[in-house]
Amino acid sequence: MRLRRLVPLMVILGLPQPGSAQSSTYGLGKTPTAEEIRSWDIAISPTGKELPPGSGSAKEGAPLYAQKCAACHGATGYGGRAPQLIRSENTTLPPGAKAPPCLSPCIRNETVMGIYSPYATTIWDYINRGMPFGKEGTLTPNEVYALTAFLLYKNGVIAEEQVLDAQSLPQVKMPNRDGYVLPEWKHGMPRPFPNKP
Ligand code: HEC
Repeated sequence: MRLRRLVPLMVILGLPQPGSAQSSTYGLGKTPTAEEIRSWDIAISPTGKELPPGSGSAKEGAPLYAQKCAACHGATGYGGRAPQLIRSENTTLPPGAKAPPCLSPCIRNETVMGIYSPYATTIWDYINRGMPFGKEGTLTPNEVYALTAFLLYKNGVIAEEQVLDAQSLPQVKMPNRDGYVLPEWKHGMPRPFPNKP
C-alpha cells in the first residue's frame, strides 16, 4: 500500500521507480541491487552490530603498525607527516625532528582519535575504510581489530593483552565518552558556535 502511494510522487520527481532499471527522465543510471547496497553500506555504528567476525590484540597490532602505518604516522605514532595517533607522553620524536604542525582540526595529545573519539567503533571504522592512505580496503578484519587494539593500548585506554572483537570493541569505555554534549540552544539565542556560519 505504502509503496503504491509513493510511486506517483517518484514519477513526478523523476526518481527511478522501484524495479525500473533507469531513471525515466534522463535514461541514466540503474537501481542498485540489494547486494550492491550491502557492499557500499560499510558504516559501523556505536553499537558495533555491523562489525564483522574476527579479533586482534595490541601485541598483534604492533608489527602491523610498524609495517603498514609508521611510514606516515611516525614509528611512535607521533612526529610523522600524517596526523598524530599516539599521545606524545608515551612517545618520542625521532632524533632531530621538530614537533609536527598542528593540523586542522588540531590534533594534539588530548585530541588523538584513540583518546578523543566517543566510541572505539569509530576508530575501527576509520581504519577499515580509510587506511592505509592510498591502499584503502586492503586490511583484513583481524588486522583492523589488532591495529585498533594497538592504538587504544598505546593511548592508555585498554590493556595490552585485551582482545578486541565484535563483542568487546563496542564495550570499550572511551575516556571522552561523555565529552560531546551540545550546549542547550533555543530559537532566538545567540549561536553556540560564534565562528561558524
Ligand atoms: C601514505 C600515508 C599513510 C599511511 C601509510 C597510513 N596513514 Fe593514516 N592517515 C594518513 C593521512 C594523510 C591522514 C589524514 C587524513 C585526513 O584527515 O583526511 C590519516 C589519518 C589517520 C587516522 C585519523 C587521525 C585523526 O585523528 O583524524 C587514523 C586513525 C589513521 N590514519 C590510522 C592509520 C593506520 C592504523 C594505518 C596503518 C594501517 C595508517 N593510518 C596508514 C596517512 C597515512
